[in-house]
Amino acid sequence: MVHTKDHGSVRAEVADLFRSALSTAYPNAGVEPIVAACNNAKNGDYQCNNAMALFGKLKGSENAPKAPRDVANAILAALPANDLIAETSLAGPGFINIRLNKDALARRVGSMLTDGLTKFAPEGHAGKKVVIDFSSPNVAKEMHVGHLRSTIIGDTLCRVFEYCGSDVLRLNHVGDWGTQFGMLIEHMADVRKARVAAGGADADTDEDVADLQELYRAAKKRFDEEEEFKTRAREAVTRLQSGDATSLASWQRICAASRREFEALYTRLGVTLQERGESFYNPMLKGIVDELKEAGVATIDDGATCVFVEGQSVPLIVQKSDGGFGYASTDMAALRHRLNDEKADWIIYVTDVGQSQHFELVFGAARKAGWLKEDVGPKVSHVGFGLVLGEDGKRFRTRSGDLVRLVELLDEAKSRCAATIRERRQEAGEEVDEAEVEAAACAMGYGAVKYADLKNHRTTNYKFSFDDMLNLKGNTAVYLLYAHARIAGIVRKGGKDVYALAATTPVTLEHPKEVELALHLAKLPDALEDAIEELAPNRITDYLYDLSEKFNSFYVDCKVLGSEQEASRLLLVEATAVVMRKCFELLGIKPLYRI
Ligand code: ARG
Repeated sequence: MVHTKDHGSVRAEVADLFRSALSTAYPNAGVEPIVAACNNAKNGDYQCNNAMALFGKLKGSENAPKAPRDVANAILAALPANDLIAETSLAGPGFINIRLNKDALARRVGSMLTDGLTKFAPEGHAGKKVVIDFSSPNVAKEMHVGHLRSTIIGDTLCRVFEYCGSDVLRLNHVGDWGTQFGMLIEHMADVRKARVAAGGADADTDEDVADLQELYRAAKKRFDEEEEFKTRAREAVTRLQSGDATSLASWQRICAASRREFEALYTRLGVTLQERGESFYNPMLKGIVDELKEAGVATIDDGATCVFVEGQSVPLIVQKSDGGFGYASTDMAALRHRLNDEKADWIIYVTDVGQSQHFELVFGAARKAGWLKEDVGPKVSHVGFGLVLGEDGKRFRTRSGDLVRLVELLDEAKSRCAATIRERRQEAGEEVDEAEVEAAACAMGYGAVKYADLKNHRTTNYKFSFDDMLNLKGNTAVYLLYAHARIAGIVRKGGKDVYALAATTPVTLEHPKEVELALHLAKLPDALEDAIEELAPNRITDYLYDLSEKFNSFYVDCKVLGSEQEASRLLLVEATAVVMRKCFELLGIKPLYRI
């Protein structure tokens, strides 16, 4: 008799039972169980779909089964006795529908409260070193909405792996090196000179870099229009690269100013990142390129040093014909560093899909160099995402055509939320505590922006709309935050210590809506496993939204407070709140406890 666990993934446990059945019934077939949730709850909770493909595989062999249904029956006959599956049935050509044991589900819900959710994290990732390269804006250029997407998606992926017990390195691969610094430094030098001539100090000031966008614009204009300035800017790049102290000081001042802006945004969003910009890898570039050349991985083509990757229409250029190193050279060095020094098991890059080919080339070149081995690892993944569009369906820009400033975006989300919350308080005749409104408005406003991004599959382009994301109904953070507050309110009103209750009272599931809710709660690890498998945060938002729907439907039919089943149902309610909070946490959203 196989005894079910009280925690972890039910789907994985069902799969284990079927793995055992498959190897008993068909010891030589060497197939993995295919177990998935049933789309239609009427048929079952899960289904095993191995019979059809296995039938095909066995065709023509000795004692080949006559129909897929025979295969399904043979699998069922070999299913070990267990206390997880209550009943099975056959459907269609050979689907095996599975209904879970209610007590097993009830025990899992109870254990969510008594043992906590740590034991419900997806397995197999604990202790693994996961490097996630995300956000990664460029110094002195405005951080745009694409970087916001990278920041939001990357942070959620980090949080999921952290929950799984992985050793996560959150890297900000800031664009802090490159030829644009020549013109910036040279322009700053001219401003300095003018200051000296007017009797001022011979040093850069923070004021010179107060408006980085303006600095960039002014320098770029001169670079495009003044031949003499262009030449000086080019020379400045060489000086900076050779470590000239004055140039380095200006460069550092620019980076520091940029960093302050980025940090302000990360603090607001509650995102932590370790800055390790492109400049960090600069000392490694020459060595890497030389090594690739010596190994014959890189070859000279038209003066440039290139790695040709099979199946790719263009090569990866690791050194330009003028001897300069670029974005690709840096990514090769960064990959190498993450493999050798960080000892990463999985490296994940979060950027717009426009960079897909770049990463295919980098990964391909690394395989060619033998740094990565197919099917052996370490793993590398590019998590590409689509565009953020304005309400007009075009690239998201302000009316003046500029890129939208992220800070203003967050401000607007927050102030709209503050207005709604204040109104609600006033309508209810409550006193308005401004500090509380501010905190709630941040949670809601920033949460709404994050959620609106995460709920779309990452590769789809989505329209940025305050009205949509702040909608009180539907699949929005605002709706879910209120739903959670309402649920927390039920427990508060019950006035009992639910954790003391959980320690003494078992959860019992009788009403079909109770069972449905418990089943969905038990699916938490599976939703997260799917999110990891596809590196797709929308798996978590889908799960969370479904949970709130399942709860609503339970709450309509099942009276909680004052009912005969009050104790058990309170536990179900608290478990729902706890799981919702776990999802919020993974999405980087702060929960609200009151409406
Ligand atoms: N700074 C780059 C950009 O803004 C993104 C860097 C992504 N990371 C990397 N290792 N290439 O497009």
